[in-house]
Amino acid sequence: MSASKAEVLDRRKAITRRVETLLGQMTLVEKIGQMSQVEPGHGHAPDNLGERLRAGLIGSVINVVDVDILNELQRIATEESRLGIPLLIGRDVIHGFKTIFPIPLGQAATWNPALVEQGARVAAREAARSGVNWTFAPMIDISRDARWGRIAESYGECVLLTSELGAATVRGFQGDDLAASGSIAACAKHFAGYGAVESGRDYATTNIPDTKLRNVYFRPFQAAVDAGVSTFMTSFSDLNGVPATGNKYILDDVLRGEWAFDGFVVSDWDSIRQLNIHGLTENDRESAYEACSAGVDMEMAGDAYSNHLLGLVEGGDVSEEAIDAAVSRILRVKFELGLFENPYTDPGSLPDFANAEALNVAREAALQSVVLLKNDDGALPLAVPETASLAIIGPLADATYEQLGTWIFDGDESLSITPLAAIRSLVGDTIELRYVRAMENSRSRANPEFDVAVAAASESDAVLLFLGEESILSGEAHSRADIGLPGDQAELVRRIRAAGKPVIAVILAGRPLTLSDVVDEVDAILYAWHPGTMGGPAIADLVFGNASPSGKLPATFPRVVGQIPIYYSQKNGGKPPSKETIVHIDEIDPFAPQTSLGMSAFHLDTCFTPLFPFGHGLSYTRFGYEHIRASAAEIALGETITISAEVCNHGDLEAEEVVQLYTRDLVASITRPVKELKGFRRIRLAPLEKQTIDFELHTDDLAFYGREGRPVVEPGLFHVWIGGSSDAEQRTEFRVVQHR
Ligand code: NOJ
Repeated sequence: MSASKAEVLDRRKAITRRVETLLGQMTLVEKIGQMSQVEPGHGHAPDNLGERLRAGLIGSVINVVDVDILNELQRIATEESRLGIPLLIGRDVIHGFKTIFPIPLGQAATWNPALVEQGARVAAREAARSGVNWTFAPMIDISRDARWGRIAESYGECVLLTSELGAATVRGFQGDDLAASGSIAACAKHFAGYGAVESGRDYATTNIPDTKLRNVYFRPFQAAVDAGVSTFMTSFSDLNGVPATGNKYILDDVLRGEWAFDGFVVSDWDSIRQLNIHGLTENDRESAYEACSAGVDMEMAGDAYSNHLLGLVEGGDVSEEAIDAAVSRILRVKFELGLFENPYTDPGSLPDFANAEALNVAREAALQSVVLLKNDDGALPLAVPETASLAIIGPLADATYEQLGTWIFDGDESLSITPLAAIRSLVGDTIELRYVRAMENSRSRANPEFDVAVAAASESDAVLLFLGEESILSGEAHSRADIGLPGDQAELVRRIRAAGKPVIAVILAGRPLTLSDVVDEVDAILYAWHPGTMGGPAIADLVFGNASPSGKLPATFPRVVGQIPIYYSQKNGGKPPSKETIVHIDEIDPFAPQTSLGMSAFHLDTCFTPLFPFGHGLSYTRFGYEHIRASAAEIALGETITISAEVCNHGDLEAEEVVQLYTRDLVASITRPVKELKGFRRIRLAPLEKQTIDFELHTDDLAFYGREGRPVVEPGLFHVWIGGSSDAEQRTEFRVVQHR
């Protein structure tokens, strides 16, 4: 055992002793106090905050970010309460604090765990500077429905990508040592299944079979536990009839039992009392009983615990051991954060907000997050000096707030550099710029400025069209049924197209949008998500070729909303569609027999493929994949195989590529997806450089939860692909055997 592991173990033991000692001194009322989080001045918390803190009735506060006020609250808690227990200070620090990084879905498009970790580290330091010691991130709900507004906060549809980026985020927030200055506790949320809400309506019901829960929705959470995440948050949603906040199976049996998670679980906002609204309980007392029995340790912003737990224990419904277990878990995190040693924040000891390093990380994250969806005839990068004049059109070209995206409570809009500002400063007076906002906002209709925009396009050598969604159109409680470009944007695209100039669309959005009606009307599309504070300079660099786009889609782009859910790791089904088995609604021959339709799994009125597949993203150079091979024809259970391919940069530009490895388990006792991402690597290749990229696959990487409810690797044939998207074509195969 390495020294540091021994030290960690010693520290854990010491903390266990301190928790036990402290618990032994606490009254039942003080214990229940630790299980309550309040938002001062709001909701159910009475305003006599100081009094309640002195009485030991509050374990955590949420949504206070004034460092002086927080230091004062910590002073009251630690110096004026009987036992001096410090407070957890919670805040949603989702993709940055003052410096805003791309929305998590955009960060996922970087496929760069190290960069995501760096971003979380910057966010942790900025939040810590304000006195925050606990964030409610990462959100690692697998999201396969772009109607769901919270897809913006997710890392997309893929189990592996979400797991890796979630773990990286946990590492970034928590650092190596939770007690170190600048580290804050992370929270894996929302456990579990929230991303599967029916029709993408936020807060709606989910129905997820156990094998799917375990093979898909649980896995990023298990990875977060492995990464040492301190806390978990329950989901608002109903899971198979038992809302997550009252769901003993997921919280107690799986999270604590199977995964041995020893941090604590917080409810979502007032979600304990909502158990009654769900129809699970008759009143708040029963809700407190169900949540506590299921394993929810702390109540966020509600008063079911503070009003009813005491009575429930005194009445014998809830045991004091259950309360002790919950409180111990909460105290453990407080000890691990070092709050008993120092509950106060000295802002001067932490880096300044939005310092040069923070802005550089934000710029790099934005740069790597942008996905080049299409680029006909090399429309991008814009050639200089051929492009002597440029029309910059659209409601999102110069919108400091909108480019930040959802969940930016503390984000500083004044730091934002917009694409327009960045392009102006990059090109100086070498290019004549004509800026027309054209629409008041992304949703506007009846737009008097369209004629001005068309005139600007006609007079210019090229057009940059900034389209998409304002930040308010995604995020919590902001789901959409139609995920096309809102307002009259499609009309704007058509009008600009008619001007006959090269049209480059730069789309800022919180989700994959359906772009079928505009995709052929533009020459190139840069998909920039909501790119954050430094979105402008990143976009400017890409437009003018100072860097090549290298983002890859973390979620499939449907052609039409009716294709949802559409994701790369679907099952094959018994009648998979192919070009031969489909027919389009406009080509149906009324006289042909019904069976000539092919009878396969497709929609008559759209293609069975997505508009852009998961993992897709072009570059200004061209990467080629060759000679994919496996190091062995077969491996036995417990062994490792190496899968390699040669990746070549065929262009004359140095650029980055995300190399992706997919497998398919052809025959299994539970049918497996047609492709599963099993590895990825971001590489940088010089012009004409060729590199052999190796991926190690252990047979454990091929495991899935089988019929017996435990992980299995079943011997048999596996297909394996390496390529630049989930449409990768270079394939080889290997066989897993029981023994060799
Ligand atoms: C509700 C959201 O679902 C959750 O993600 C967030 O952390 C809490 N509110 C606190 O703001």
